[in-house]
Amino acid sequence: MTEQLLDIRGLAVSRGPGEVLRDVNLAVRAGELAVLLGANGAGKSTLLDAVSGLVATRAGEVRFDGEEVSGLSRTRRARLGIRHVEQGRAIFGDLTVAENLAVVAPRQSHAEALEQFPELRKRMDVRAAMLSGGEQQMLVLARALLSPASKRATGTRLLLLDELSLGLAPIVVARLLPIVRSLTDRGITVLLVEQFAHLVLPIADTVHVLDRGTIVFSGTQAELEADPRILHKAYLAA
Ligand SMILES: Nc1ncnc2c1ncn2[C@@H]1O[C@H](COP(=O)(O)OP(=O)(O)OP(=O)(O)O)[C@@H](O)[C@H]1O
Ligand SMILES: [Mg+2]
Repeated sequence: MTEQLLDIRGLAVSRGPGEVLRDVNLAVRAGELAVLLGANGAGKSTLLDAVSGLVATRAGEVRFDGEEVSGLSRTRRARLGIRHVEQGRAIFGDLTVAENLAVVAPRQSHAEALEQFPELRKRMDVRAAMLSGGEQQMLVLARALLSPASKRATGTRLLLLDELSLGLAPIVVARLLPIVRSLTDRGITVLLVEQFAHLVLPIADTVHVLDRGTIVFSGTQAELEADPRILHKAYLAA
């Protein structure tokens, strides 16, 4: 049996008056890059929130490396190695790149997190507001690889990435995606949320499609493309 790092079963989440997720089953194997697709409002961000602990679950299980984590605080889950890059780039524009990283972890741990981002290494003393959108997203990624609890940057085991492509030109996204892909070579499992399927399908090991709070497809890119009705329905159904 293959090892599931993340195993979500029968998950239900309510936000305000409405049920946003219902009976969600989704498993991510250790070391893979899984993509979660779905239209605006389908519940993609809410699903990541439920994994990282930003929102409470109403029913079901969220198992991380075999342990049920849905009762744990966000901090406890972060300590287990769950990192969540939330939708929108949250950086401190007035601080330099180095200072943005130092907010999360001591400087001696930065070099390891910056290995993938040579552009950033050259701009450590530049104010983050002066970076391009793509560079800002690299900073967000580098920060997610830093481990607050230790002096090393290897604490991240599961990286939840929400709409990396938001506001970026396709050519910039094309630069970032191989970096994301390479994280799995470093032993980091990635669950990437995206609205634009064509951007991320080429780098995905597995694909999941969320349609109005329910998973309607889990499989490979080839399986998804064999039935165009799945995406069509998830994105266009009223
Ligand atoms: N804090 C909140 N309070 C109440 N309802 C919320 C909250 N956050 C999200 N929702 C609702 O939950 C549903 C799913 O939202 P969610 O942000 O998870 O969707 P999404 O798939 O990430 O959409 P997008 O592609 O636009 O980011 C939406 O109907 C939204 O209005
Ligand atoms: Mg979202």
